[in-house]
Amino acid sequence: QQSTEADLPKTEEESPFNAHLRRYDGAQVWRIVVQTDKDKRMADELQSKYDGQLWKEVKQEVDYLLKPQVLAAAERHIRAANLSRIVLIDNLQHVIEKENPQRRRLPSSRTERAYHRLEDIHGFIDYMAKTYPDICSTEIIGYSVEKRPLKILKISNGNARNAGVWIDGGMHAREWISPATVTYIANQLVEGWEDLPEHMRSINWYIHPVANPDGYEYSHTTDRLWRKNMRAHGRQCPGVDLNRNFGYKWGGKGTSASPCSQTYRGSKAFSEPETFYISKFISGFPRETFQAYLSFHSYGQYILYPWGYDYQLTQDRADLDRVARQAGTSITKSTGVKYTVGSSATTLYPAAGGSDDWAKGIAGIKYAYTIEMGDTGRYGFVLPARFIQYNGKDGVTFADTVARAIAQGR
Ligand code: ARG
Ligand code: ZN
Repeated sequence: QQSTEADLPKTEEESPFNAHLRRYDGAQVWRIVVQTDKDKRMADELQSKYDGQLWKEVKQEVDYLLKPQVLAAAERHIRAANLSRIVLIDNLQHVIEKENPQRRRLPSSRTERAYHRLEDIHGFIDYMAKTYPDICSTEIIGYSVEKRPLKILKISNGNARNAGVWIDGGMHAREWISPATVTYIANQLVEGWEDLPEHMRSINWYIHPVANPDGYEYSHTTDRLWRKNMRAHGRQCPGVDLNRNFGYKWGGKGTSASPCSQTYRGSKAFSEPETFYISKFISGFPRETFQAYLSFHSYGQYILYPWGYDYQLTQDRADLDRVARQAGTSITKSTGVKYTVGSSATTLYPAAGGSDDWAKGIAGIKYAYTIEMGDTGRYGFVLPARFIQYNGKDGVTFADTVARAIAQGR
């Protein structure tokens, strides 16, 4: 089927660079290799003493964004601590300005050309439902803090007894590759439906590309590096980290009780509509329905499984690990991209209240994964749009592998 221009969602063509966006002239992103606990403490002073913004944290390294006015002092600090640093990005403003060169309408076959605004992504979902009504439908599962729709696309051959797979993206606003990957997956499933393997056609797919619509828009209009949702807290800093707000072991390790923190967990589990409506939607189905919950984030190229709240592993860790490794191997075969596989807490750091832990621990969904898409740090969150296609393909391979595992398990 050919899409006609008239069917496409309409959006203004915009100048690629938005003048209202907060500027990051001369800001740098550094990677610090940390071996001991003391190394880690010293590196973390980049946040507490030099106002650095944490970008990525794994056992052996941390990435920080630093403003130009602290660079000299921060460098002395790192040297005095006997640590070494690599400059990943030497002028963030330049990278931001080149990241998304063409923002155009979103025709169904061109999802991978650019990072799109919320309206365009929602328009794409509506377009899919209108153009392919036999297999697609949309649903608004609730509304965000700022009353934007939480919109999902269901793709199905119509058999209500199929296993369900939930896919979400964009829970963290600045991780633009995530909604782009999830949109790409939706597009591939729909446009390629007739040729898909049976194990993919016998899944009911529920796809939520922008789980944090307010934050996502804010990252386009105001601050490219916004992470949380847009919950207001009076005069204090806004925002709750949605991936610390889910109701399993809520409030545990790797979460903060301070609204100003990037990992603020909220006032209670599911205090935020963006997380609450996901749990409500999934909980509305019979318990055996959903067999997988795939949450797309960035960056680092990791396939992660529970638990995230602590170092323990699940009973069926062998199944989760096997399927994750199969996916990793298939991805490398197809695009050459490498993913590291492991549990969240052991591979990155413990962090409670994640969607994956809730999916596994409360909803009882077997294949609960968080996948951190590309890259490994050259661009981090500001990955140029030309990389969308690779990530999209990897996302499809991941969904394919999980669907096959579900088919084999039934
Ligand atoms: N980078 C993700 C985050 O910090 C990883 C989440 C992994 N899952 C978890 N439950 N900790 O939100
Ligand atoms: Zn994330």
